[in-house]
Amino acid sequence: MSQATITSPDQPQGTRRRRWRATTAGCLAALCSASIAAPAMAQSASASDAWADSILKQLTLDERLDLVRGQNPFTFKPKLPTEVPRGAGYVKGVPRLGVPALVESDASVGVANMVGGLRAGDVATALPSTVLLASTWDPALVERGSAMIGAEARAKGFNVLLAGGVNLAREPRNGRNFEYFGEDPLLAGTLAGHAIRGVQSNHVLSTIKHFALNTQETGRTILNAKMDEAALRESDLLAFQLGIEIGQPGSVMCAYNKINDAHGCENTFLLQDVLRRDWGYAGFVMSDWGAVHSTSIRQGLDQESGTTPGDVGHFGVKLRAALAAGTVTEADVDRSVRRILRSMHATGLVDHPMAPAPIDYDANGRVAQDVAEGGIVLLKNKNKLLPIAAARRILVVGGHADVGMLAGGGGSSQVNPVGGAVLKVPAAFGKRLYSGSSPVLALRQALPGATVTFDDGSDPRRAADAARAADLVVLVAEQYTTETMDVKDLNLPDNQNELIAAVADANPATAVVLVTGGPVLMPWLDKVGAVLEAWYPGQRGGDAIARILTGAVNPSGHLAMTFPASEQQLPNPTIPGYEMAGETLHRDQYGLPKDMKPFVASYPEGANTGYRWYDKNGTRPLFAFGHGLSYTSFAYRDLRARGGANPSLTFTIANTGKRAGADVAQAYARVDGVKRLVGWSRVDLKPGERRRVSVTIDPRLLARFDVAANNWHVAAGTYDLEVGTDATQAQLKTKVRLDDRRIKP
Ligand code: BGC
Repeated sequence: MSQATITSPDQPQGTRRRRWRATTAGCLAALCSASIAAPAMAQSASASDAWADSILKQLTLDERLDLVRGQNPFTFKPKLPTEVPRGAGYVKGVPRLGVPALVESDASVGVANMVGGLRAGDVATALPSTVLLASTWDPALVERGSAMIGAEARAKGFNVLLAGGVNLAREPRNGRNFEYFGEDPLLAGTLAGHAIRGVQSNHVLSTIKHFALNTQETGRTILNAKMDEAALRESDLLAFQLGIEIGQPGSVMCAYNKINDAHGCENTFLLQDVLRRDWGYAGFVMSDWGAVHSTSIRQGLDQESGTTPGDVGHFGVKLRAALAAGTVTEADVDRSVRRILRSMHATGLVDHPMAPAPIDYDANGRVAQDVAEGGIVLLKNKNKLLPIAAARRILVVGGHADVGMLAGGGGSSQVNPVGGAVLKVPAAFGKRLYSGSSPVLALRQALPGATVTFDDGSDPRRAADAARAADLVVLVAEQYTTETMDVKDLNLPDNQNELIAAVADANPATAVVLVTGGPVLMPWLDKVGAVLEAWYPGQRGGDAIARILTGAVNPSGHLAMTFPASEQQLPNPTIPGYEMAGETLHRDQYGLPKDMKPFVASYPEGANTGYRWYDKNGTRPLFAFGHGLSYTSFAYRDLRARGGANPSLTFTIANTGKRAGADVAQAYARVDGVKRLVGWSRVDLKPGERRRVSVTIDPRLLARFDVAANNWHVAAGTYDLEVGTDATQAQLKTKVRLDDRRIKP
C-alpha cells in the first residue's frame, strides 16, 4: 500500500479537511449545517504559529520553565492577587509580552467549587451530568450547554476549563461515569467534540481528558490498563480522535493510570506516536493532578499540573537538574512552551483577555433545564402511566424531592449550585449537594387541581401505606457517585430497592425516577408502571423532571450506556483491583493510594465496549444502549444505502402518534460480526409529520485498525446495515458493498 492512497475519512487525501470536520460521522446533514458552521478555533493556525514563534524567542529560561509548570493556586508564592479566582490550577503568565496566566477550573458540568471549598460562597450553574448530555444525542444542545458553562468560567475569571471527559464508560460501576459521554466511541467522541467547541467559543481553553483508558477510580494511579493496540484504536482512542477533530481542544490531559505498562503522562506511544505523529495534534499535553512520575518532557508531556511550592514536582527543580545534566535540552523545553503558547493564541486567550462580568443565572438555569429535558430517558411506560393525566392524589416519595434535587456527582467536578445547596448530605466521599429545584413544588405548580404530598421514604411501610391512598406515586431513587470511588455494585444504595418494591406492591401506578451516575439494576422493574432515568439532571433538574412527568415536555433522551441485567453479564464481573482497594483507601487518599500494590486491569471486551459486548455474546441487557421511549410513536421506512468508498444511508422517519416529539433513529453496521453504531439522526417531528434524513458514515467505523500498516482498513465486502430504536431493535435492514480502503491513522 503506498502512502498516496491513504485518505482522510471522507475525501481524497489532503483536500477540504475543514469540510470533513463539518460532516463527521453521526452528525447528519441537516444537523451539521445547523450546528457546525463556524470553525472551532478562534484564530488561524498560521497566526497562532507565528505568535508562538515570536514570543518564544523573547522569553527568558525562567519564564519558559514557569510555563511548563502549573501550580496550586492556594499555595502559589508570592500570593495570587485577590482578583484571581481560586480553582484547580494556575500557570504564571508573562505580562510584559502579553502571555496570559492560565487560570484553571474544573470541569465538564459547570464551574466547580467542591462543596464551596475553593471559593467560599461562590455558586455556578450546575449543568446536568455529562452522561445526560450524551443521552440527548444532540450535538447542538450539548454545544449550547457547554457554551453556557464556558461563559460562566470566563465571567468568573477562568480562562481554562478542565472539561471534555471522554473516557469510554466500559465499567458501569465507575464513580466518574457521570463525567463521561457513555460507552460508544462515535457518540462520545462526537459529543465531546461539540462540548469542547461550546466551551472554547468563549475564548476559554478546554481540555479533553483523561488520555487514556482511565476507566475506573479503583486504583486509578496504580493500575496498568492493558489492551492491544487495534482494540484501543477502535474504541477509546477513536473517541479521543473524534473529539479532537471536532473540538480542537487547546490541551489534552494525560491520565493517572498506566496504559500498556507506561503511565499516561510518560507514554510515548500515546503522546508521541498517536497524538502528534498520527493525529497531528498541535496543542499541548497537561498532566492530571499528581499524575507525573518523571521529567517526561521528552516522552511528550508539556506541562505538569497542580504542583506545590518549593519548586517540587518533576517539572521544577528536577527539570532544571535534567537541563544541567543534559538529559533534557532547552530545545525540548522550547517545543513544549511553543505548544502551550500556540494553544493560548489559537483558543483566543491572547486576543480576548479575561474580563470578569456579571452572570445571568436565570438564563443559564434555563439552558441547564433545556439540556436536562433533552437527556432524561423514559425507560418504561406501561399502559401509558405517563404523562400524568387525571391523577388527583399524587404521592412523591424519597430523594429529598420536597426541597430539591441532587445537583451532581462528587469530586473535582462538583458544582456548588446557584442559590447555594439547599441540602448538604455527608457522603462516603465529600457531600451530596442539592439544588433548590424540587419536583414536589414543580408538580404542585404544574397541577393545581391535584394534591401532591411527600413522604421521605425512610420507612417503607409508611410509604407503602401512603401509596395505597394515592392515584399515582412518583418515587425518586438516588445513587450518589463520585470521583475517587467506584460503586461497589449496581444496586441502588440505602435499601431503596426494598422501598420501591414495597411502594409498587402497594400501588403499581408507581413511576420511579432514577437520579443516578450510571446504570443500576432494577429487581422491582416488573412491579412498577414507569421508569425515568434522570441521571444528575443539574440546576433545574426537579423542574425538568416535573415537565416530563406531566407531559409539558415529551421525553426524547436515549441511553448512552447499556443497563446490564446482572453484573455477571459484564466483561469484568468484579471491578479489577476492588478487593485490594476497597472504598476506604480511595476515600481517604483522594483515589491516589500510595501504599497499594500495582495491578493489571484487563478488558476482555477489547474494542467491543458496551452494547457490542452484549451483541457479541448474544446476551440481553436490562435496557439496551440507545433505548428511550416517547409519548408519541415513530416509524421508519424506505431505507436506501450507498456503498463504495463513502457510505451513507437515507430513510424516512414519521411521527405516527398524536404528540410532537423528537426521535433518535440509530444506524448500526456489523463489522466482523459485531454491531457498531455508525450514525444517527435526531429529528423533531409534529404529529403526522415525516422527514427524509441521511446519515453519513465515517468509514473508520466500518474499519479495523491494521497495526502493522498503521492505518485503518475497510475490507472490501458486503456489510449489514440497520436502522433501529436501540442497539437491539432493528426496524429496517439493508446491505452495502464497500470498496477496499485504507485511511490514515
Ligand atoms: C481529576 C481531573 C481534574 C483534576 C484537577 C484530578 O483529580 O482527575 O479530572 O481536572 O483533578 O482538579
